[in-house]
Amino acid sequence: MDVLKIKGGKPLSGQIRASGAKNAMTKLLVASLLSDKKCTFFNVPNIGDVEITVNLCKEIGSEIKWDKKEKILEIYTPELKTSYVPQKYSGSNRIPILMIGALLGRTDEDIIVPTIGGDLIGSRPVDLHIHALHKLGARIEYREMKKEGAYFAQAHQGLKGTIISLHYPSVGATENTILAAVRAKGTTLIKNAAIEPEIIDLILFLQKLGAKIMIDVDRTICIQQASQLNEVEHTVLPDRNEVASYAMAAISTKGKVWIEGAEHHNMIAFLNKLRDIGGGFQVRKNGIEFFYEKSLRGGVHLETDVHPGFMTDWQQPFVVLMTQAVGASVIHETVYENRFGYTHTLKAMGADIELFTQCLGGKTCRFASSDHHHSIVVKGPTPLKATDITIPDLRAGFAYVMAALIANETSTISNVDFVDRGYEELVAKLSSLGADITRVTAPKKGEPKTVLQNTSV
Ligand code: UD1
Repeated sequence: MDVLKIKGGKPLSGQIRASGAKNAMTKLLVASLLSDKKCTFFNVPNIGDVEITVNLCKEIGSEIKWDKKEKILEIYTPELKTSYVPQKYSGSNRIPILMIGALLGRTDEDIIVPTIGGDLIGSRPVDLHIHALHKLGARIEYREMKKEGAYFAQAHQGLKGTIISLHYPSVGATENTILAAVRAKGTTLIKNAAIEPEIIDLILFLQKLGAKIMIDVDRTICIQQASQLNEVEHTVLPDRNEVASYAMAAISTKGKVWIEGAEHHNMIAFLNKLRDIGGGFQVRKNGIEFFYEKSLRGGVHLETDVHPGFMTDWQQPFVVLMTQAVGASVIHETVYENRFGYTHTLKAMGADIELFTQCLGGKTCRFASSDHHHSIVVKGPTPLKATDITIPDLRAGFAYVMAALIANETSTISNVDFVDRGYEELVAKLSSLGADITRVTAPKKGEPKTVLQNTSV
């Protein structure tokens, strides 16, 4: 496995371009399976999760041409070769479960998907997906297989529009329900739906495909059956997680980074928090510049939430940022019950962080009576010491990269595959901003080591 070597202490400075959003592109590929028409995507990020989804679609029968240099991907699925998602995709990411919603209206065969993976940040159940698809008329069973379990789904009687109320606005469950509803007879209402920008991007794609979808002010999404499906051209929205990550890396290293393509309207909650702590930013015509202006102010209270709140994926790099701010800040994670595991390594690097099972701050969340550490108090500023780090999940991975960029000596970071899942050309982008970062590719038996550094962006 590859490792990153980062010698910190240098301010990031320069410009990069925001890549296409991981959390949109992977779903768009699955959505394209609804139809037998060609779909062309632009601004496609070359990241691990897209690669996995591309391979998954190929297994199902998709013909795919991906020009990685031009970031253009064409997908065409004239017919399904199989509706069995092989077990090797079990645990790979969150995408296989969405295959059920996309394929139910397309095949009479059983759709078989293995248990899903993704970051280990909570129990991550799929009850809301199953409940919604059941209501639309699907039959879904979980069965034990040779090695592990799989979901068997079918809708032999067809899918029928209905009213579905989600007891929590889950992103994945909303997407799965929308995908199934596009082929369901009549009208489907999803109440308490998630309305993340990546879901709006999916809706834009589906509208071009032929669906009629309305979004009401009260988190209700109304989907009418698509009568005709069309070829689609679609440009993937910029990745707001990547933008926020580089923004925080720039400010925490006392640097200045211009991010071309960063979209203001999807970053409102983030920019408000940045303003609270004294982080500099300027929104321009084609992007946003982020810069260190003055010493960062702690003493803030932050609660992660569903959109339009402060996104849970911004939480880990934000905690690293707060280790550099003056004063104590309270951070309450309300989306995932177990998303502070990564703080142990930050503490070993010198951060002053205390974990709590209580809901700190004003609001009580779903995890109030659990014994999960889902609130923290972080006190700063503290210098961070370089160390050897193993990445446990994607966003924690970037947080560790950020911590290593702040620390003065050289840190060695392993399990880099996690960051590859969601950050396009991480080493190239950071190198272009002046970071002292090297990727060492672990040699296969008998091969010499490969070192990548300062690759062009
Ligand atoms: C997506 C994003 C992830 C982001 C998250 C919240 C992708 C690939 N991942 O994940 O980056 O952090 O949205 O913005 O797009 N839940 C249930 N039952 C369910 C489904 C979810 O209880 O059936 C719970 C989860 O355990 C979690 C919460 O709902 O506590 C949020 O999950 P969800 O919104 O579904 O996130 P994902 O779609 O998995």
